[in-house]
Amino acid sequence: MHFQGFVMSHSAGLSLFLGQLVRRPHRVVALAPSSQALACRMAAELPDDRTGPVIELGAGTGKITQALLEAGVAPEDLHAFELNPEFVDCLQTQFPQVHIHHAMAQDMGQLPLPQVRAVVSGLPLLSFPKSAQMAILRASFRAMGPMGVFIQFTYGPNPPVAERVRNALGLRWSKSEKIWGNLPPARVYAFRRNLL
Ligand SMILES: C[S@@+](CC[C@H](N)C(=O)[O-])C[C@H]1O[C@@H](n2cnc3c(N)ncnc32)[C@H](O)[C@@H]1O
Repeated sequence: MHFQGFVMSHSAGLSLFLGQLVRRPHRVVALAPSSQALACRMAAELPDDRTGPVIELGAGTGKITQALLEAGVAPEDLHAFELNPEFVDCLQTQFPQVHIHHAMAQDMGQLPLPQVRAVVSGLPLLSFPKSAQMAILRASFRAMGPMGVFIQFTYGPNPPVAERVRNALGLRWSKSEKIWGNLPPARVYAFRRNLL
């Protein structure tokens, strides 16, 4: 299913992604775009009620964006942040009704959105300094209500948010089964605030 017109072919998306991986390896930090299996598993962590704003961080070529729309998020409720201008063009072409922000994830707090339902991150978060992780997680939970969920994938064996950040914000989490159909295999973590 596609919602808004231009469907980017798998090979065009892959070649754009790989080109940017060569040019900006420290920003892209992945061998390939997320697979559909991983993107759908991320979307499955959304709250059951899919109405209301959702923020996506590091949207890349839009694999997770597409899965969020297919899971029932309305395009006008979806706000995607992406730093790379080539990926921003690609996202705007594919998803003209989605709010695409050519901005750093760290700036998401400047968006005046009421009660964000979920933040879905494709960022290479563990490669960020802890201060940046803290700023992103803090801004995310400030934008969301107490029931908000921060969804993040990782290729490694450990939670994709540094222990210091998890402890400072009082986070608990669940993790998915390993998604073998992704390159490399990955897991999805869903972080929530410990409720007192
Ligand atoms: C691992 S790729 C994931 C792309 C896509 N979400 C996917 O799953 O295929 C990481 C993406 O985050 C973007 N990115 C890296 N640092 C960022 C930042 N500080 N703010 C916004 N986007 C960032 C990169 O440009 C890249 O598109």
